[in-house]
Amino acid sequence: MHMTTQFRWLQKNSTKKLEAKMISKTFTLHNRDSINVAGFSEVSFSVNQGDLLALTGPIGVGKSSILKAIFRTCLVDSGSVLFHHSDGGVVDLARCSESSMVNLRRREIGFVTKSLNILPRVTALQAVAAPLIDLGEDQQVSLFMAGRMLDLLGIREELFHVSPLTFSDGEKQRVNIARGVIAPKELILLDEPTASLDDESSNRVLNLLQGLKEKNIAMIAIFHDKAGIDQIADNTYEVCGEVFPTTVEAHWEAA
Ligand SMILES: Nc1ncnc2c1ncn2[C@@H]1O[C@H](COP(=O)(O)OP(=O)(O)OP(=O)(O)O)[C@@H](O)[C@H]1O
Ligand SMILES: [Mg+2]
Repeated sequence: MHMTTQFRWLQKNSTKKLEAKMISKTFTLHNRDSINVAGFSEVSFSVNQGDLLALTGPIGVGKSSILKAIFRTCLVDSGSVLFHHSDGGVVDLARCSESSMVNLRRREIGFVTKSLNILPRVTALQAVAAPLIDLGEDQQVSLFMAGRMLDLLGIREELFHVSPLTFSDGEKQRVNIARGVIAPKELILLDEPTASLDDESSNRVLNLLQGLKEKNIAMIAIFHDKAGIDQIADNTYEVCGEVFPTTVEAHWEAA
């Protein structure tokens, strides 16, 4: 009886990739007399395979922190983050072991952050190919695929052998996206992927994301521009809630 119920539950959620359930986070600034800063509160959403969920909301409301909570570079105070493996198993990212999380980050969950973190003297081609080489893919094949990805995003070939640290912000951003999506993943998190791009580059990125959707990859992306959302998002979750130091009064009273 129990088995049947569980089976039905898995069947019903078979296309679901990630569910955030009532996740909350308050940052405590220990070097500032333990002032608490609201991160996000009681956030719940889900995203299916092949869908893109857009996170929207005002500045400072906790959008980037939510992505970090999914990637577990920020720990939630409460709630769960259920990741559905393709074999039907479910893992709570808020509670799984660090080694499981390391494996998930390598093979299943990608994160395109806002900044490109690479070492000096690494070329654009090498930077983009690195996640594939890390998974054991042949070096030449990886570099070839990196070139195709950069070309797709409109990076000029003359820049392929240059360090992206000298690139313009828009070029850096596109190298970062290429690097974040080149290896196969099941879920990709993107923090403002079109933020510093012009219309043409923005469209190239949105076309790339459309291609990932067609490969059944689930995505959660922060967008500030409505055009991007209209073009690519299947669902939108508006993060809301007042953002203010929650214990300011208590802090002053105690002072
Ligand atoms: N590591 C941290 N330590 C302390 N406070 C933090 C930390 N990270 C985020 N915060 C606070 O949490 C709140 C939400 O930040 P977050 O970066 O998630 O906002 P956001 O919605 O992404 O904003 P934006 O649209 O400007 O990118 C902010 O008030 C921020 O100061
Ligand atoms: Mg942000």
